[in-house]
Amino acid sequence: MSAAGRHYVCGLRCVRCGATCALGETVYNCAACGGNLQIEYDYDAIRGAWRKDELARNADRSIWRYLPLYPTATKLDCLPIGWTPLLRVARLERRLGLRHLLIKDDSRNPSASFKDRATAIALARARDIGRDLVTGASTGNAGSSTAVLAAAMGMKARIFIPKAAPRAKIAQLLACGADVLAVDGTYDDAFDLCLAATKQFGWYNRNTGYNPFTREGKKSVSFEICEQMGWHAPDLVVVPVGDGNIISGVWKGFADFHRIGFIDRLPRLLAVQAAGSAAVVNALAGDGTIKPVSGETVADSISVSVPRDGEAAVQAVRESKGFGITVTDDQILAAIPEIARDSGVFGEPAGVTAYAGLKTAVEQGRIDPAWTIVVLMTGSGLKDIASVMKVAGEPRAVPANASALSEIFKKG
Ligand SMILES: Cc1ncc(COP(=O)(O)O)c(C=O)c1O
Ligand SMILES: [Zn+2]
Repeated sequence: MSAAGRHYVCGLRCVRCGATCALGETVYNCAACGGNLQIEYDYDAIRGAWRKDELARNADRSIWRYLPLYPTATKLDCLPIGWTPLLRVARLERRLGLRHLLIKDDSRNPSASFKDRATAIALARARDIGRDLVTGASTGNAGSSTAVLAAAMGMKARIFIPKAAPRAKIAQLLACGADVLAVDGTYDDAFDLCLAATKQFGWYNRNTGYNPFTREGKKSVSFEICEQMGWHAPDLVVVPVGDGNIISGVWKGFADFHRIGFIDRLPRLLAVQAAGSAAVVNALAGDGTIKPVSGETVADSISVSVPRDGEAAVQAVRESKGFGITVTDDQILAAIPEIARDSGVFGEPAGVTAYAGLKTAVEQGRIDPAWTIVVLMTGSGLKDIASVMKVAGEPRAVPANASALSEIFKKG
């Protein structure tokens, strides 16, 4: 632990069986049942030590403005992460017949995805316990985020990816000097191999959900939404779901702020999955138990057979009184130009999945048009050009002379 400050963690609690344990150096999951762990804080102490007006005066416009609610005592002196724009999108609002629609554009993080929030807290932890090498399995974004932030910090990243990950994500990993292991299999295979390697070699593991620090970073998005909305939670937050760690983090963020009295009510959550990769939404529609699926979708970032934070995701949606919905790959792809043309925000397939799900929910009459709704945009369209080009159209070919141009534009 760094001597620079203190943190307010009082322990970890298993999301499956409720067993508690202390914050050991590399405690990942529950010793009793193998479930994922949730980090718990001394909320009374935080309430006493931290006030809203003090936070409002903090000039640090990054995730680090919320340090008392993180499990690390020191900030990572790193690229600026978080405090991403919350954009009112009037034309999309009109298109869907809603009154107050906002996009939280997390493609604007240093590695161009939401994952930087989680990586920052995981790397801060690695630093706290004196580790310089971080490993992780990734559909692409968590890995490239680890590579980018590790490069910024002078740390090492060893990343397992499915060999079919989009080229742009692989390029980002390689350019940042990560040791990239392209697994001949799916994301789930890469995840299991990375876990086996962690046990064998003792590397610090950042895997989504398995490492309880990832959820703690992801919750920062909710802190920002509350502040950007004048200390109010929206009525509904719409989240794309793969492993379920973003949505469980989103819930933790609102719940943490509620517990320390910074907001006075909680939002509903809408979990959106691709129809071919819908283990969490299936569980929500059933008895809450996660059952593996084949995990096939064009949205590579949410292509998951066994969601690694699925239990926490189901709990989050249920506690919020929200619901789950699925969308087809065609609906996901169609959402890319629809959002881009009506707002200028350019998302990758998983990034636009929340909007596609909201649109479907509106069509099904499940959304009150008067609600204030925040849609998460979790990754940049530049991450997966091949998918975008399936729906973006082609440029018009023109000869390189001006008279030919006047011919073309005369015709309109
Ligand atoms: C762009 C993007 N959106 C959504 C997700 C889903 O997050 P989670 O797997 O935590 O549910 C991911 C995860 O990789 C992602 O990269
Ligand atoms: Zn347990």
